[in-house]
Amino acid sequence: MKKNTVVIAGAGSTHTPGIIQSLIQKKDTLPLKKLILFDIDEDRLDRVKAVMTQFIKDNYDKELEVIATLDYAEAFTGVDFVFAQIRQGGLEMRRDDEKIPLKYGVIGQETCGPGGSISYGIRSIPGVIKIIEEAKKYSPDCWILNYSNPAAVVAEATRRKFNNERILNICDMPVAILLSYSKMLGLSDWTELDPEYFGLNHFGWFTALYDQTGKDRLPELREKIISTGMEACSDRHHKDKDWQKTWKQYAEIVKDYPEYLPNSYLQYYLYSSDVVKKMDLTHTRADMVIEGREKELKEEYNKFLADPDNYKSPVQEFTVFGDFIVDAAASIAYNKGYRYLVIVENNGAIPNLPADAMVEVPAYLRSWGPEPVARKPISSFYKGLIENQLSSEKLAVDAYFENSYDKALQAIAVNKTVSSTSIAKAILDDLIEANGEYWPKLEKKSY
Ligand code: G6P
Ligand code: MN
Repeated sequence: MKKNTVVIAGAGSTHTPGIIQSLIQKKDTLPLKKLILFDIDEDRLDRVKAVMTQFIKDNYDKELEVIATLDYAEAFTGVDFVFAQIRQGGLEMRRDDEKIPLKYGVIGQETCGPGGSISYGIRSIPGVIKIIEEAKKYSPDCWILNYSNPAAVVAEATRRKFNNERILNICDMPVAILLSYSKMLGLSDWTELDPEYFGLNHFGWFTALYDQTGKDRLPELREKIISTGMEACSDRHHKDKDWQKTWKQYAEIVKDYPEYLPNSYLQYYLYSSDVVKKMDLTHTRADMVIEGREKELKEEYNKFLADPDNYKSPVQEFTVFGDFIVDAAASIAYNKGYRYLVIVENNGAIPNLPADAMVEVPAYLRSWGPEPVARKPISSFYKGLIENQLSSEKLAVDAYFENSYDKALQAIAVNKTVSSTSIAKAILDDLIEANGEYWPKLEKKSY
């Protein structure tokens, strides 16, 4: 079995220990020759390196070469896979993305609404493009698996820029949801369910869940969710206190719209004003992550600094984030053809949506790329919601490539989370200021 060189781009993230844990646990699925940790932020990279080095040594074959670097050439030369998970502007800018819209009574969320889709989208695009260009420069044949958010907007940008040549945009949310489903159905693993699913990233629905006997378990699950609620995802990431609220809210969506089972992110669009009421402008999710995962990692690093020679990394808990990217890479590396929910160009997979929409659907992951599964046309409710969201996402990408204020305003105004143009304008002006150099200079067109 060929061994792989993997570079984690954005390795200073608190998600990296989870990926490393999965690489270790799945060392027979995706054997490694070399693991490269790359980041542009030295402090963050140092922290992850310090906390994880001994852990890797203790748990992987001695031959595995591990390096941490800030240098593009060193990071991207001779690699088979790039696991990209960058966050332009860090959690500090996530905070602004959440708080600015919320100040105007609009959803303030990492990947949804004016802050998540538009602000973070326009900021993220150049960062992701840079990583991909560097990767392709030094390793033209590598595969780039991209988790960087907002994945829907980023995927549209990479489609336009690179035709998504050896680039696969992915998200762990469907897997997190499937993990809960499989537990509720008494199955031992989420991969025992073959889902039918359609939509955009963070904006889709499960329409069937086939088990290994070929039986669709969705009707049984629907009843369970409505009568007893949704079971929380059990991985390290999605079980924290704040995520519990999402799992609790999940059953409400199913009660109102029982036809299909939703992606949990639909709560922000279908219940915008209710969710806003529960959000706290002085303490949003970014604050919780800074005070939670970020703080824990810093504390671990301090333990290392206090006594580097005797430092012992804690046992890393399983995350679907780590497991999914490793499985997806293995499917591509060895042409396994595993069937996963990934973000691909539509091209008829959902017949009554535009061919050039980046949709999230089941696809077989082959060494030459994803082979999406086509389905029947979707009905009005879903089509209307998706087309609305899709236009907002495409307009955000237009705004970036055309440096267009007008397109950015349209992207915000058309978004379902925004009810009025006066609010859209006020939010956009604040976002321009907050993003500073992260955004291109947006120009108003003269008519
Ligand atoms: C899910 C989504 C990711 C998102 C994350 C946010 O896993 O799929 O795209 O980044 O949730 O979680 P957090 O704990 O950072 O709020
Ligand atoms: Mn996601």
